[in-house]
Amino acid sequence: MNRVHIKTYGCQMNERDSEAVAAMLRARGYTIVASEDECDVLLLNTCSIRDAAEQKAIGKAGYSSSRKRRDPRFVLGILGCMAQNRGASLLDRLPDVDLIVGTQKFHRVPDHLDSIRASREAGVPAGEAIVDTAAEAGSQNTIRDHMDGPGPQVCAFVSIQQGCDMDCSFCIVPRTRGDERSRPMDDIIRECEELAGRGAREITLLGQIVTSYGRRDYPHTGGVSPFVQLLERVHAIPGVERIRFTSPHPRGFREDLADAFRRLPKLGECVHLPVQSGSNRILRAMNRPYTRERYLAIVESLRGAQPAMAFSTDVIVGFPGETDADFGETCSLCAEVDYDMAYVFKYSVRTGTASAAMPGQVPDAVRQERNRTLLDLLRAGSLRRSQALVGTVQEILVEGPDRTGLRFTGRTRGNRVAVFDAAPRLEGSLVPVEITRASVSTLYGDLVTADTGLQTGRGPASL
Ligand code: SAH
Ligand code: F3S
Repeated sequence: MNRVHIKTYGCQMNERDSEAVAAMLRARGYTIVASEDECDVLLLNTCSIRDAAEQKAIGKAGYSSSRKRRDPRFVLGILGCMAQNRGASLLDRLPDVDLIVGTQKFHRVPDHLDSIRASREAGVPAGEAIVDTAAEAGSQNTIRDHMDGPGPQVCAFVSIQQGCDMDCSFCIVPRTRGDERSRPMDDIIRECEELAGRGAREITLLGQIVTSYGRRDYPHTGGVSPFVQLLERVHAIPGVERIRFTSPHPRGFREDLADAFRRLPKLGECVHLPVQSGSNRILRAMNRPYTRERYLAIVESLRGAQPAMAFSTDVIVGFPGETDADFGETCSLCAEVDYDMAYVFKYSVRTGTASAAMPGQVPDAVRQERNRTLLDLLRAGSLRRSQALVGTVQEILVEGPDRTGLRFTGRTRGNRVAVFDAAPRLEGSLVPVEITRASVSTLYGDLVTADTGLQTGRGPASL
């Protein structure tokens, strides 16, 4: 009764939450199993950002609950954003669910499972589901345990903040994740040091609006925001070679952050800068507090700090009231920024958000069409930027074997994936790789060795 499988939907934050739940369960004597077929307890850590994400988890839960008819001891739990968003009403559709745990209660999962397990073992038939979705002060400090994986974890994720106080009119996150709350800086630094001590070389700081980190808890010092102060402190940790962060908000990109990209080489040359739309009219309706012009000025200042800066973004197409002309402005902005990568989302109505009630909802066929048009445009740009790297030598952080297991994979300072031959002992180190070929999303190349110039052979002996 103690084999748990956690299936995660959605973003990196959810992945990180699942990892923390797994670590807490392991500490309590549970076994985390990789296959769902072998588990006694199935936990779905869910996403609510778009309707499709919720439907996927609901479908899965419905299907899994049939297992209960065969095995009455089987336990099914729903965690995270959809649990928070829908709460006990999930039971109307999914009466077999045993456990519903919201986004501020992940740390309570072991207790809840213990009590369900105790009553199952005592032969008590499954009774009412446990629903735990209240807000809890200090819950942002509970996502900190990391799983001890088999080898060193080269890239680690650290949660620095929970919730979001922005009010983007399309977004369900403030409702699913609650108020914006930051973890104490010292705790974050301690966690990063510990991870670096265990072999982590790249740290990604996670939050819904990381650029606002600590704004209520720490003062600006000498014009430097608490977020940039945090970056400086992570930068000073020995062993940490790269620092990334997601998701920032354009609002947080002032001179101190642009300057950080000049001063702190571990930041590399990449920024994820969610734009959502290139039309000022739509940005206003989205309640995004910047204009197209301001956004482009941020891009320019960051390219001023690092000319090779690679940008990625999030874009929504088909927001209520979006005309062909508005969409055209999004396309022209994308062309102007010249993104390395972009996530394009078709607008999805989220009940309870301000934009759900707006007039001018765009028909699905139009959303679909705009989605395709923009993806084609972005793909062409991405391929062009990728191919421009052929013939250059890039600094790669070696992450591990690629999918085939025959070669190795890692990323450039600009966050492009590269595949090359290397020796296992190079895992976790920075190596120069000459790029010989490029596709839209992947670079291929050869390790450059100090004494022999280009290295094309395979295997440790030749290194
Ligand atoms: N905190 C992040 C966003 C989190 S949600 C930020 O400020 O950028 C991730 C992305 O999902 C958003 O950037 C947005 O592009 C997309 N998204 C959010 N709500 C959506 C909706 N209702 N329909 C379609 N896409 C949405
Ligand atoms: Fe959502 Fe906007 Fe916050 S996209 S997560 S409300 S910054």
